[in-house]
Amino acid sequence: MDIIVATRNEGKLREIRKGLKGLRIRLKGLNHFHNIPKIEEDGTSFLENALKKARFYSKYLSQPVLADDSGLEVDALKGAPGIFSARYGGAGTSDKKNREKLLKVMEGVPTPRRGASFKCVLAMVFPDGREIVVEGSCRGRIGFKEVGRGGFGYDPIFFLPRYGKTMAELSLQEKNRVSHRGKALRKLKKSLERFLKEIE
Ligand code: IMP
Repeated sequence: MDIIVATRNEGKLREIRKGLKGLRIRLKGLNHFHNIPKIEEDGTSFLENALKKARFYSKYLSQPVLADDSGLEVDALKGAPGIFSARYGGAGTSDKKNREKLLKVMEGVPTPRRGASFKCVLAMVFPDGREIVVEGSCRGRIGFKEVGRGGFGYDPIFFLPRYGKTMAELSLQEKNRVSHRGKALRKLKKSLERFLKEIE
């Protein structure tokens, strides 16, 4: 079965491929298609945005679609940037600019108040209307500078005290073992295994 992953983020796609390895499915990202419309992520939660993307592209392509909506919630910022994580640095932003802005905003905040969570919602929508929704989260804290070159987004400034490393210092396999997305993917894999058995 082909499943379209409603993302242009190759980092997310790599993690999703790794997390769902072993299932009899083929995953394709939106970069695989030409002239596919963009939709506005104007929901008020990760769940709303993930479902909106999955429902829209499943209808548009008449194929099963998996969408990830995720982001970083910082305790000292009352959960910001949250659903605005991708746009935190303003117009024309980049992962690097988002990280720089967050480090600046967190200047002077002491270690005990630098707690944060990554959150991920995965929504899978089939053309017949069936839906699967799962979520995962991961606790850590905001570092004081960028460390590591792996992962994507905020990984180089997301410090995991249990490992004494940032998320960007972990291999893909290690990241999936502990991350918000890895946890959600293990739940999705179980549901998909059952679903694939039913339709075989
Ligand atoms: P989305 O693609 O609209 O869901 O935006 C996700 C935002 O959260 C982007 O800014 C990502 O960089 C950030 N984000 C989500 N998951 C991760 C992760 O696993 N590591 C680092 N940043 C992440």
